Amino acid sequence: MKALTYQGKRDVRVEDVPDPALLEPDDILLRVTSTAICGSDLHLFRGKVPAMEPGDILGHEFMGVVEDAGPEVTRVKKGDRVVIPFVIACGECFFCHLGLHASCENTNDGRGAIVQKKQIPPGAALFGYSHLYGGVPGGQAEYVRVPKANVGPLKVPHDLADEKVLFLSDILPTGYQAVVNAGVSEGSSVVIYGAGPVGLMAAACARLLGADQIFIVDRHDYRLAFAEKLYGAIPFNFESVDDVAEAIIERTEGRRGVDAAIDAVGFEAKGSKTESFLQTLRVEPSVGKALRDCIATVRRGGTVSIPGVYAGFVHAFLIGDAFDKALTFKMGQTHVQGFMPELLALIEAGELAPDEIITHRMKLADAAEGYAMFDVQSDECRKIVLTP
Ligand SMILES: NC(=O)c1ccc[n+]([C@@H]2O[C@H](COP(=O)([O-])OP(=O)(O)OC[C@H]3O[C@@H](n4cnc5c(N)ncnc54)[C@H](O)[C@@H]3O)[C@@H](O)[C@H]2O)c1
Ligand SMILES: [Zn+2]
Ligand SMILES: [Zn+2]
Repeated sequence: MKALTYQGKRDVRVEDVPDPALLEPDDILLRVTSTAICGSDLHLFRGKVPAMEPGDILGHEFMGVVEDAGPEVTRVKKGDRVVIPFVIACGECFFCHLGLHASCENTNDGRGAIVQKKQIPPGAALFGYSHLYGGVPGGQAEYVRVPKANVGPLKVPHDLADEKVLFLSDILPTGYQAVVNAGVSEGSSVVIYGAGPVGLMAAACARLLGADQIFIVDRHDYRLAFAEKLYGAIPFNFESVDDVAEAIIERTEGRRGVDAAIDAVGFEAKGSKTESFLQTLRVEPSVGKALRDCIATVRRGGTVSIPGVYAGFVHAFLIGDAFDKALTFKMGQTHVQGFMPELLALIEAGELAPDEIITHRMKLADAAEGYAMFDVQSDECRKIVLTP
């Protein structure tokens, strides 16, 4: 079959690879009908995630049709159309019972990403996301083996096109978890740093939950304009406004700052030349620019919610400011499984239309071109969907 493989920094290729097979009795084999490129794939593409090996198949946002199922699979059957969460969870362990699927302790035989590991097992395996997360072949491919098929795959109704439901695999639940973690509710004010797919899904969900003021920050005017038009967000370009946090605070009630800040950027944030340079030298694993801006913009007693991925440490993390402002931090990989059913219902009801952010549709064969485009955000690219 054909699959998109990692070969090295900024080198991904669609190649012929062996077909996957069922390995465990609760596996399914999926024929992929649609898959997407995620901002998280860009961290891999840019060579910023360790434990990648040449030939690894990428992709963790995908859906398709069940081609074959192991003898213990009861939740879906051959011919069903399903969306797959990017997190692989057993559904039975301590963390799965708490609804913390991304912390599942039974699926990842890799090392995990925590520095001070001690005897703590790694979090859940993720599709196509390095050997730290289990080295599981991903779904930017014609076929993929899906483990734990009684827990992950969600059957979708036949009248909803792939594009309507594909983002249930990752970015929609990620945006949703971000606003839930941020405590957004009727009348809230929230700032979202990053107007990429995750930031845009967060804006859509903040609107849905009744936020009163949604500020959004990026350096791409085309992404900001989209967030303004579709979600009524108030845009700020951090490259043309001197001090974005100050400018946003100026517009909040009592100039106290926003109730919550969402960091939908993560460890490769732009805007600090020093930190980006130190990151290139591999001295500083994460750039703290977006995180500092979140801390600066939020009001006392507010919440900083972090869906953006971080790695290792950030030197310039203003823990003193966070302490003085009595902030709450919530973060992490998304516990996708728990959010999928309610979000599918909201899509069916027409309350959410995540497909509206798609700008590019390409063949899987042209995926390398898609990565190159999404990486530099050329051609006003917001989100790319690939079809085998
Ligand atoms: N927690 C999870 O489970 C989960 C799931 C999906 C994605 N993610 C992460 O979410 C982040 C965003 O993903 P995406 O798909 O939207 O990626 P993306 O790269 O398309 O979007 C990031 C956006 O942030 C903007 N940006 C850069 N520096 C900034 C700064 N200092 N302030 C404000 N904006 C800035 C960029 O211009 C870009 O538009 C990534 O780190 C990704 O790995 C996490
Ligand atoms: Zn992702
Ligand atoms: Zn588990």
